[in-house]
Amino acid sequence: MSEPVRLGLFYTILRPEEKWLLAAASARGISLEPMHDEGMLFPIGGAPPPVDLVLNRSVSHIRGLYALRCLESGGVRTVNNAEVTERAGDKILGSLALSRAGIPTPRTIVALTEDAALRALDDIGYPAVLKPPIGSWGRLIARVRDREEAEQILEHKSALPSPTQSIFYVQEHVPKPERDLRILVVGDEPIAGMVRRSTHWRTNAARGATTEALPLSGELSELARRAARAMGGGVLAVDVMEGPKGYVVHEVNPTPEFKALQGTTTQVDIADRILSFALEAAQP
Ligand SMILES: Nc1ncnc2c1ncn2[C@@H]1O[C@H](COP(=O)(O)OP(=O)(O)O)[C@@H](O)[C@H]1O
Ligand SMILES: [Mg+2]
Repeated sequence: MSEPVRLGLFYTILRPEEKWLLAAASARGISLEPMHDEGMLFPIGGAPPPVDLVLNRSVSHIRGLYALRCLESGGVRTVNNAEVTERAGDKILGSLALSRAGIPTPRTIVALTEDAALRALDDIGYPAVLKPPIGSWGRLIARVRDREEAEQILEHKSALPSPTQSIFYVQEHVPKPERDLRILVVGDEPIAGMVRRSTHWRTNAARGATTEALPLSGELSELARRAARAMGGGVLAVDVMEGPKGYVVHEVNPTPEFKALQGTTTQVDIADRILSFALEAAQP
């Protein structure tokens, strides 16, 4: 008989999502070992932790990414893997992948200096949206109404210590209704969707948007599936806006929170679906 599969849960905080994952594993009698990102050591060339697969739930993109690289190098499987996490967790790399796959996405220009960013903003036209390449929860995303505001925001951004704050991701402002859409894809299957409504232009659930179930039409399911494939596949939350010319995918999240999404459905046990996917990926 083959050995039972051992899974690891690489985490920063045990949010409801991580607790649900642990409960789902326990309900199935599967070993899911919590691995706190702050305390982990990865000796180069040393033995990897004694697990077959690690599920990355760290809230830090950079911590998660290095941990995944170390684990994979030691022969441990990962969900999502480092390649997918790197691509989807960086808006520049993510947009490049969406565009290459021919998926409708807002018009975006990358600029590497403040002066170039100003030209990019003028080119995109106002209002425009400026985002840090790496970040979530709508943090540090700015809507820029005119050139004067552009100059002020760019000056502030350039003064920030993080090096990626001086790489500029400039995007057209999509005049969406007071909502956007989020679809969670696990493997190749869109398993649940929600509408996030807010009177604020940033409609993140983390910023207090109200959420409700989104019935997945064939068109939306296919769009989400294509966007997830463009990242390389795994557990991916696809963010979609309804633009004047139809749906546009603005990002795909590689380590999504799903408390709000779970709150919109009793049909799908999201943690259990993610666990099933990880178990399958852990099979030799
Ligand atoms: N180009 C845009 N036009 C209009 N609204 C946008 C645009 N980009 C983002 N938003 C709004 O801001 C929210 C956060 O942007 P997003 O790119 O998803 O970054 P984050 O990684 O912080 O979630 C989106 O869910 C959407 O409501
Ligand atoms: Mg988002």
